Amino acid sequence: MSETKQQVYYPSEDVIKQANVQEYSERYQKSISDREGFWDEQAKLLEWYKPWDKVLDESQKPFYKWFVGGKTNIVQNAIDRHIKGADRNKLAIIWESEGGEVRSFSYYALNREVCQFANILISMGVKKGDIVTIYMPQIPELVFAMLACAKIGAVHSVVYGGFSYEALASRISDANSRILLTADGGSRRGKKIDLKSIADEAMKRSPTIEVCITVKYNQLDVSMEAARDFWFHDLKALPIASPKCETVQLDAEDPLFILYTSGTTGKPKGMLHTHGGYSVYTSTTHKMAFDIKPEDRWWCAADPGWITGHSYIVYGPLINGATIMLYEGAPDYPYPNRWWQMVEKYGINILYTSPTAIRGLMRFGDQWAKRHDLSSLRLLGSVGEPINPEAWRWYYEVIGNNRCPIIDTWWQTETGGFIICPLPITPLKPGSAAQPFFGNEVGVVDDQGNEVPVGEEGKLVIKNPWPGMARTIMGDDDRYAELYWGDYQKQGYYKAGDSAKMDADGYIWIIGRMDEVLKVSGYRLGTAEIESALVSHPAVSEAAAIGLPHELKGNAIHTYVILKANVAATKALQAELQQHVGNELGKIAQPEEVIFVESLPKTRSGKIMRRLLRAKALGLDEGDLSTLET
Ligand code: WTA
Repeated sequence: MSETKQQVYYPSEDVIKQANVQEYSERYQKSISDREGFWDEQAKLLEWYKPWDKVLDESQKPFYKWFVGGKTNIVQNAIDRHIKGADRNKLAIIWESEGGEVRSFSYYALNREVCQFANILISMGVKKGDIVTIYMPQIPELVFAMLACAKIGAVHSVVYGGFSYEALASRISDANSRILLTADGGSRRGKKIDLKSIADEAMKRSPTIEVCITVKYNQLDVSMEAARDFWFHDLKALPIASPKCETVQLDAEDPLFILYTSGTTGKPKGMLHTHGGYSVYTSTTHKMAFDIKPEDRWWCAADPGWITGHSYIVYGPLINGATIMLYEGAPDYPYPNRWWQMVEKYGINILYTSPTAIRGLMRFGDQWAKRHDLSSLRLLGSVGEPINPEAWRWYYEVIGNNRCPIIDTWWQTETGGFIICPLPITPLKPGSAAQPFFGNEVGVVDDQGNEVPVGEEGKLVIKNPWPGMARTIMGDDDRYAELYWGDYQKQGYYKAGDSAKMDADGYIWIIGRMDEVLKVSGYRLGTAEIESALVSHPAVSEAAAIGLPHELKGNAIHTYVILKANVAATKALQAELQQHVGNELGKIAQPEEVIFVESLPKTRSGKIMRRLLRAKALGLDEGDLSTLET
């Protein structure tokens, strides 16, 4: 199939007329021939306590520094700037729970909440540079907590609320966190999820936690340990929780957060992002790609526990002074019109979500969306995995009524923000994330770093540094340099880990991950994490995990397990192992299939050949087996 022959969707006159960016090619050329000039110009649109001396410091490649010498704090631009004038009355957050409870906060109110939270953290001894772990459902306090950390120069490490205690414990230990912020529970499809007891289990396994603050949300009965556990509302009622708190002036390169993401080994990597470059990058990409206007109501329907939520629920949109929508619940509960009901109710202008969510809602048919007036929508967005053309068209035709461009954004936890994405004025090809964002040059290359011919599959690289890039893997500079910059050291390319094709128009078509990372429902998981969860079960001797195509989830996890001697391979054990992985890592990591096998194909050096397992499962040609152990 030739992608270039596919139908191209052109933007309407209306879309073009109101676009923030009216022209791409010339401006793009300029942005890459004078990259520093482009970013200098964007950074000047933000407030700084002190301007930078140098836009980019390349002296310690690949450890790039941006806006060197500049003083800022992301909160200066995300809140402080807005409360000086009329924007203080503007809605910053509209939140709705699955059950329909609504809370909303103006920028003025957001500031008070964040200051109170910040003062509580200070009273608990949190200092600049300390890592605070946050494990919460999608409630406003999660956003307050992140901003409160940033405000006082502490570093947040948000762990997705769907992760289980093992995953939480390992992230707490890796970060050496002294303090944990959580909630009594979350909710999903009408069921209460008991987060505090998961946090308790995690704290048993990670003794570094001295203080745990719990937000009361779901009225669940939880156990509180004296001198360690505090209720947030108790602390908030004390005089220490003053609604005034100075924003700490930081260096542009001071750390803002770490976010763990899965890679090729069992241990997730704590990607480190900084205040200055990340502020500039998230706000610029958000404003230009999604055409943000002052009156916009923006809904990024991701979880703040993943990078999409960090960059495009919290930081980018707040810096741009947008009104953000936050929803704690499932898209299809109690009925498949839940999202469309909220788009109509709140007059959402831009909806940004994942292909999995779109496919999930599409299967219920058009009538659920058609019952609602979705005419407030101006733009749509997609992220996290390649969007199949069928889902793209449904999103475009049924949700966007053939008038809203779909901004398909390719990026990663490591990149901090969009690297490849169309602008509203860009002609669209369903399934392609289109062209590089300003300042970036991307390529599809072979192992030597040479461009592969048009239409052929190769490795996706970014050829330059950009302000939103992660600075390192926390505590492991060598691994960072090796993993991302090691393969194309000579050229100075960043290796994304994805395979891709470029077509004759320069559009990028992402094929998928090339390493042992799986995207399941858009969530990023490592095969190694799933395998070690399986092996931690007493019945299992060895395990392998692979991803196989799945209609809704993009990929589904299939696992192969060698049992210990004398353990019977029963159906009950299969179910128990599925459950076990769910308990250890979280429901999203629960395998679709557990298959008992006698042996696993391995290379002579003992590495499991997942490629072979995949090929076999799909009934494909098994390819080059020259390294297989015989
Ligand atoms: C995949 C999510 C195709 C890709 C923001 C990448 C995509 C990984 C797209 C990063 C897209 C993300 N089209 N694939 N628009 N966006 N990916 O760190 O494989 O959770 O490497 O960041 O998601 O996942 P992560």
